[in-house]
Amino acid sequence: MKIEKLVVASHNQGKIKEIRDMLKPLEITVLAAADLELPDVEETGTTFEENARLKAEGLSKLCGLPCLADDSGLCVDALGGRPGVYSARYAPDRNFDKGMEMLLGELSATGDKARKAHFSCVLAFAVPGSETKIFEGRVDGRIANEKHGSGGFGYDPLFIPDEGDGRSFGEFGKEEKNAISHRGRALKKFLDCLNN
Ligand code: IMP
Repeated sequence: MKIEKLVVASHNQGKIKEIRDMLKPLEITVLAAADLELPDVEETGTTFEENARLKAEGLSKLCGLPCLADDSGLCVDALGGRPGVYSARYAPDRNFDKGMEMLLGELSATGDKARKAHFSCVLAFAVPGSETKIFEGRVDGRIANEKHGSGGFGYDPLFIPDEGDGRSFGEFGKEEKNAISHRGRALKKFLDCLNN
């Protein structure tokens, strides 16, 4: 599929930065919703896919351009998959330092095994006049006992991926994170689709 311009349907700077970095090889113009003064879309869905579709299709209708939306979150086994689709709203006023403290508080009585968690990402790619395409990615790991590092965004300092060397995503370089992250994996599938 050939496109010249794409809008990242998000106002989350952490996500936009990671998506922009991974789309660099495409050599297309990548805009963010704010560049076109596009609004936030209300996330009324109960699944990552529903919310990703709402954001991509909602903004694509408004601006008439191909839109890529990411809905993602942290799912903790001991909390029955919470905060999941509500990960952004779990943090009071989107303050993720507070959100991480709350999470550590909820897990304080939990043994190491029950700290298993994963990040999930669903990307929805909406092109006016075409059917929306969906791409998924996931990374498994566990919740640390305390924050480590200050890289990345959101809950990164608390998430230790199984495939790593014991460091948290907050201690990963951006390329290292993109190579194994939920978002990186979903974006690889998206890139493969555009290149075929
Ligand atoms: P939403 O997709 O806009 O509902 O927001 C997803 C929320 O999940 C973000 O605001 C972060 O708190 C969290 N999240 C998603 N991906 C990541 C990640 O790669 N690192 C850390 N937190 C993430």
